[in-house]
Amino acid sequence: MSTAAPFNGFTQAPDLPALGLRPLHPSDLPQIERLDERAFGPGRFARTAYRLREGVGPDFALSFVAHVGTLLVGSNIMTPVKCGAIEMLLLGPLTVEPAFRSRGIGEALAARSLEAARAAGQKLVLLVGDEPYYARLGFKRAPYGRLVLPGPVDPARVLICELVEGAFEAVGGLVLKAT
Ligand SMILES: CC(C)(COP(=O)(O)OP(=O)(O)OC[C@H]1O[C@@H](n2cnc3c(N)ncnc32)[C@H](O)[C@@H]1OP(=O)(O)O)[C@@H](O)C(=O)NCCC(=O)NCCS
Repeated sequence: MSTAAPFNGFTQAPDLPALGLRPLHPSDLPQIERLDERAFGPGRFARTAYRLREGVGPDFALSFVAHVGTLLVGSNIMTPVKCGAIEMLLLGPLTVEPAFRSRGIGEALAARSLEAARAAGQKLVLLVGDEPYYARLGFKRAPYGRLVLPGPVDPARVLICELVEGAFEAVGGLVLKAT
């Protein structure tokens, strides 16, 4: 997992000196919506992860944007969800502008959110995504059938990150919106 954050959240010195990370602000949401539209298209609304976010606001303290000066070039949203009585966070969408990819921005955004979540006392983070990308951040596949999401999902893409060792051991069942 990424731990060191010597360069404003980046594990290596970014090649753009003005690149920075900051917490999400409500005024960023329209820009992020346009970024996600370009990255995921209209089909994003049908995704199961979207159903868990629908009508629930992001946790602004745990969500981050990457910026070059005033230009927003990436974002990661963290949304509270629950599994029975257990509170978790849903990570994503994690999106970086195509022209700014492969500079470590996606990893830095997700790592910053995980650090902030851990510092806030959160124990578990869930996402639906590609294990080959998220394994570097400490995510592992949830054992098949342990978590049931409110819609179709490839079980190989249901990933969990324990912010506290063993936090996922007794957790299972239907994941629902936090409201
Ligand atoms: C996934 C995404 C956020 C990564 O952002 P990024 O800033 O380029 O990420 P990083 O710089 O930290 O890592 C880039 C590396 O991850 C690899 N990578 C990107 N997506 C990957 C995936 N789905 N699976 C495996 N590896 C992946 C890239 O090939 C790249 O490798 P390289 O460094 O050898 O070139 C970005 O590609 C993106 O916005 N994609 C579209 C939206 C999306 O799919 N989001 C994830 C689902 S929520």
